[in-house]
Amino acid sequence: MKDKITYLLSEIRSAQIANKAQLEEFRLKYLSKKGEISILFDGFKQVLSDQKKEVGQLLNVLKTEAQEKFSAFSQKVENEETVNVKSDLTMPGDSIEVGSRHPLSIVKNEIIDIFSRLGFTVSEGPEIEDDWHVFTALNFPEEHPARDMQDTFFIEKSPDILLRTHTSSVQVRVMENQKPPIRIIMPGRVFRNEAISARAHCFFHQVEGLYIDHHVSFADLKQTLLYFAREMFGAETKIRLRPSYFPFTEPSAEMDISCNLCGGEGCAFCKHTGWVEILGCGMVDPNVLEKCGINSKEYTGYAFGMGIERITNLKFQVKDLRMFSENDVRFLKQFSNSI
Ligand code: DAH
Repeated sequence: MKDKITYLLSEIRSAQIANKAQLEEFRLKYLSKKGEISILFDGFKQVLSDQKKEVGQLLNVLKTEAQEKFSAFSQKVENEETVNVKSDLTMPGDSIEVGSRHPLSIVKNEIIDIFSRLGFTVSEGPEIEDDWHVFTALNFPEEHPARDMQDTFFIEKSPDILLRTHTSSVQVRVMENQKPPIRIIMPGRVFRNEAISARAHCFFHQVEGLYIDHHVSFADLKQTLLYFAREMFGAETKIRLRPSYFPFTEPSAEMDISCNLCGGEGCAFCKHTGWVEILGCGMVDPNVLEKCGINSKEYTGYAFGMGIERITNLKFQVKDLRMFSENDVRFLKQFSNSI
């Protein structure tokens, strides 16, 4: 029996195991119930009692070595198989869900891009503002209805601190801090105390534009806006300026573009007029320049402001404003490669 054990021991020590099949062969031969080691243990009863101690020890060594070899190799074979699977370059990869830009960001970036080609740079200001920057410096009369509690969210108990109702407040901050020439666009979120519906929301986004220099004229404004409309909505787009009123511009206008759905023919979207309104604009009122520390005898300027939701709706026909803030990925995913 001793000879058999020694023989098996050397066989086990020199065994080569390279894969799962060989590992299983090893297990069956030595470690299974009908394997060599079990047979030896069964035969142990017949060993003469004076040899039992020595043979028992040898048998234990044999069993331990066989088990150790088995577990060492099962680990190794397992690792190698995983490595082999991972490095199979012909396997298809796991697909990764890539996020998409929000439609408002897509359109905002496009607007910034168009104006940056004309030399405009981006400025931003705070969403929590004071009365001076949102109203007073912009020439709003003391009793103007826009200051009313119905439109404006006031913060704290002081009527002086509020959520900006338009991005025109950023104009004031820039004019107070920079000397002309000033050529900037100011994207940002604004807030109004409105009931939320498909057509109105208590917050939305605007892009404001401001250009101040020597001899800036209404013709410059018109040409800039025509360029913008054609870049944004296509080379065939026409524009139309209608006289309007804003406290901070004089003269003031609202701009329509030829309906981009029917090409100006008239449809339900443009209420059969062929035109849709997209922004407000005008020449910066000399009072505003003076309040912000700019000499109105030396400089003139134009300004304009548009709603990003409005432009986005015109581009993508989103029917319900609430979609923009509901974070439904089924809605958001549609715009990934739009522009
Ligand atoms: N601030 C205006 C609004 O929120 C939009 C606007 C109109 C901005 C005329 C301008 C402008 O800069 O010149 O309705």
